[in-house]
Amino acid sequence: MFIHFSILSDYHIVPQMHRHGVRQMRTGWADGPEFVTQCPIRPGGSYTYRFTIQGQEGTLWWHAHSSWLRATVYGALIIRPKEGDSYPFQKPKRETALLLGEWWNANPIDVVRQATRTGAAPNVSDAYTINGQPGDLYNCSSKGHSTLTKLGYNTFGHHLSADTLIVPVDSGETNLLRVVNSGLNQQLFFKVANHKLTVVGADASYVKPFTTSVLMLGPGQTTDVLITADQPPARYYIAARAYASAQGAPFDNTTTTAILEYKSAPCPAKGAKIKPVMPTMPAFNDTATATAFTTSFRSPRQVPVPTNIDHNLFFTVGLGLNNCPPGASRSTCQGPNGTRFTASMNNASFVLPSNFSLLQAHQQGIPGVFTTDFPANPPVQFDYTGNVSRSLWQPIRGTKLYTLKYGETVQLVLQGTSIFTAENHPIHLHGYDFYIIAEGFGNFNPSRDTTKFNLVDPPLRNTASVPVGGWAVIRFVADNPGVWLLHCHLDVHITWGLAMAFLVENGVSELQTLEAPPADLPVC
Ligand code: C2O
Repeated sequence: MFIHFSILSDYHIVPQMHRHGVRQMRTGWADGPEFVTQCPIRPGGSYTYRFTIQGQEGTLWWHAHSSWLRATVYGALIIRPKEGDSYPFQKPKRETALLLGEWWNANPIDVVRQATRTGAAPNVSDAYTINGQPGDLYNCSSKGHSTLTKLGYNTFGHHLSADTLIVPVDSGETNLLRVVNSGLNQQLFFKVANHKLTVVGADASYVKPFTTSVLMLGPGQTTDVLITADQPPARYYIAARAYASAQGAPFDNTTTTAILEYKSAPCPAKGAKIKPVMPTMPAFNDTATATAFTTSFRSPRQVPVPTNIDHNLFFTVGLGLNNCPPGASRSTCQGPNGTRFTASMNNASFVLPSNFSLLQAHQQGIPGVFTTDFPANPPVQFDYTGNVSRSLWQPIRGTKLYTLKYGETVQLVLQGTSIFTAENHPIHLHGYDFYIIAEGFGNFNPSRDTTKFNLVDPPLRNTASVPVGGWAVIRFVADNPGVWLLHCHLDVHITWGLAMAFLVENGVSELQTLEAPPADLPVC
């Protein structure tokens, strides 16, 4: 399948579109993140993303990849089986994409600008949404949608009444829900009252089906579930709210809802208000439920996990606090105790270039845009999840890449730190899917934890939930030349520098070589 995805920028927003999870084999120019694989599209300019989708099926999504524009610029990208092929499960009667979003009453760009100026944490969102609708539980929600007088269609093509998305079902039928966490900064629990969910896919790879009552998705992750309308005909809430793992940090504690509505549900008598059935959501800090979910994933069968490892990498991921620079105004140091928030991997806080994209600089050999000294291990070893000495809280800023030769195999331990606070980090790698072969709490211990590696049927994903105060181990083969960002998908963390990039060199043949840049590639 060959896809052209053209973007004509309007005057006000300049959206670099990233197709999250599309592997972009040899077409890194079409990946989208600004200053990584392209310069921004100028107001009034246009750029056509040309790429092929190979071997991926399921749910991905697209989003702006420039500052916090993805708060409102995103959508689903659904890859169905080829003509004539079928799903590896019984064909559902319906399919419904559910995009969980995060809404600020203020302009999100103003929110992040203020945080960058002051050094403080940005304001949390005011609401979550499902396909753009907040649902019934907010003060601003219109009341009385059961009267069906306000039926319309929202931009996602679904029926909605007032502020609430309605998902209609016939008794007995099975619906494939394609759930995407397109929120900016919050992991979300997801439930449907009284209904079991059978997970069949995630991040556009099929998984060994398993049944659960609750999902947890980090921003960037997708989960495909089958749901059968096997309950008494009625209306049931579909609900999502925060999984907030960072202790004591403020978060948006609201709940967004949609309604699973049996078409044969009895009509409420005139004037009567029958509330849909509400699911009991896990507690905000219910790490046990989140972990039980993330560790249930398996590939459907044995998979070719790389075993001869060329690069054994260990990256710390976490926050930091920079001391106020001498002479700086106190208004720019409003982080905890007069500091400024920062974040890093292996003590390097990532800075995007501004004059060339990394891919262009690499392909054209332009010096001075990046360095290739991203460290394979933390510069200092410490008790990552313990009481970390204050002297280790201040990372170094830089644009550091790590070089891989075409075809090399990588094992990467992602180790969360407790600097300022431990929290769950959804770590996303562009241009690749990877196997998540293990995860756990505390510090990764090679002698003890390698025994937990699943080298048989680990899940293939593009975004890993690194447990709060813990670690995850991923493996992949560097078979896609280009420059590929690895970052925390909490946008507040990428703003602070929780990112790095892999530079994957060309192989020998044409099929192992990055394509030439397209003629309309935006330059800076
Ligand atoms: Cu969903 Cu860097 O992307």
